[in-house]
Amino acid sequence: MKSFIAVGVIICATIVCIGFIRPAKKVKPSLDAEIGRLLFYDTRLSINKTKSCATCHKPELAFTDGEITPLGAFGDTVKRNTPTLINLADNENFNWANESLTSLQAQSNFPLFGKHPIEMGNDSLNNTTLGFVLTDEKYAALIEHKHLKTVNWHIVKDLIASYVETFKFFNSKYDLYKQGKVALTKDEMAGKALFFGEKLNCKKCHSGNDFDQPEFARMNTYQNIGLYCIGSDSLYANDDNGLYNETKDKDDIGKFKIPSLRNVMLTAPYFHDGTAKNIDEVIEHYKRGGRLTTKGKNAGDGKLHPNKNDDVNGFTITAKEQQQLKAFLNTLTDTAYLKNKFYKSPF
Ligand code: HEC
Ligand code: HEC
Repeated sequence: MKSFIAVGVIICATIVCIGFIRPAKKVKPSLDAEIGRLLFYDTRLSINKTKSCATCHKPELAFTDGEITPLGAFGDTVKRNTPTLINLADNENFNWANESLTSLQAQSNFPLFGKHPIEMGNDSLNNTTLGFVLTDEKYAALIEHKHLKTVNWHIVKDLIASYVETFKFFNSKYDLYKQGKVALTKDEMAGKALFFGEKLNCKKCHSGNDFDQPEFARMNTYQNIGLYCIGSDSLYANDDNGLYNETKDKDDIGKFKIPSLRNVMLTAPYFHDGTAKNIDEVIEHYKRGGRLTTKGKNAGDGKLHPNKNDDVNGFTITAKEQQQLKAFLNTLTDTAYLKNKFYKSPF
């Protein structure tokens, strides 16, 4: 009897132990996100089968494209630089300066159906181009599983959004540091102190988990950092005046959304129009407190823009400090997700 109990205890203990040492189960993506993944990488989603979402939002570049500004399906130049898609699903609005775009689905109308410029060139009223989803073998099993009998743009937009919503990654060195799992080097710590310190004041605007929120809630998430100041109306270049385009309020000229700094070292070139080639040019901009354009149609001193935020004022920074700031920004890089094939093209 005693040995029976002993064996029983050993068996129970073993089961409990196995339960503990078994690695945490990977969360299985939803069926919607799986279909959304196929759509995200599928060039058949553009009128001439040349562009998918991933053409401009490449996983290996934190879902940007390395271009100053990208080209649409027919070679039209898109006005703005491609932003990262990481950790943005919960944002209140989307794009560089479109306050009215409050869902991923609404945002996707721009690339899918936009005419000025044409990006993917689709007709929102014509669902026949989506026939491939119901007939292609790659989609078949998933579509059957979801019991889909028809496909339309509405469904497609929801499915793609489900995939984009999975881009939530918190495995940068800085995340691990905050969780107490790794230490930062001396230079990274010094760079962190500069970023959050009074002199550079980056945290005034780049706060929160993704460095895309102002430090104080009363401050607007749209800010003018003095990139241009053209003519007597203090306009921005290329007829893109940011928030003003929507509100027509002169105080909004040149205001763009504070971008996330996650993976910032992978997402050059920078700014809404991609006019800073690299991170040094961005730092130069803040160091001067605005950009001076001496000649040409964009001539003007952004430092003097009436809407420029007072916290972009210029500062002195040594070469060593600049290195340290970059070392800190490097700790925001997170490429662990690339090891998961769910974030690679299935084609
Ligand atoms: C031709 C290149 C191109 C293609 C194709 C493209 N995008 Fe974009 N994407 C951009 C650019 C440029 C912006 C910034 C637009 C703006 O601010 O006006 C952007 C912005 C976004 C944003 C908003 C990001 C933010 O920070 O608010 C999301 C979300 C997005 N794209 C998803 C998609 C999806 C989904 C697809 C496929 C249906 C897609 N994009 C296709 C270039 C592209
Ligand atoms: C007053 C608010 C404000 C302050 C202060 C500020 N930023 Fe920004 N930052 C922005 C806005 C807004 C943009 C986008 C501007 C645009 O493209 O027109 C931006 C863009 C950037 C970009 C480009 C990101 C991209 O994806 O293109 C980087 C990098 C950056 N800031 C780093 C910094 C650093 C480093 C500091 C401190 C030296 C700093 N910022 C201070 C508001 C601010």
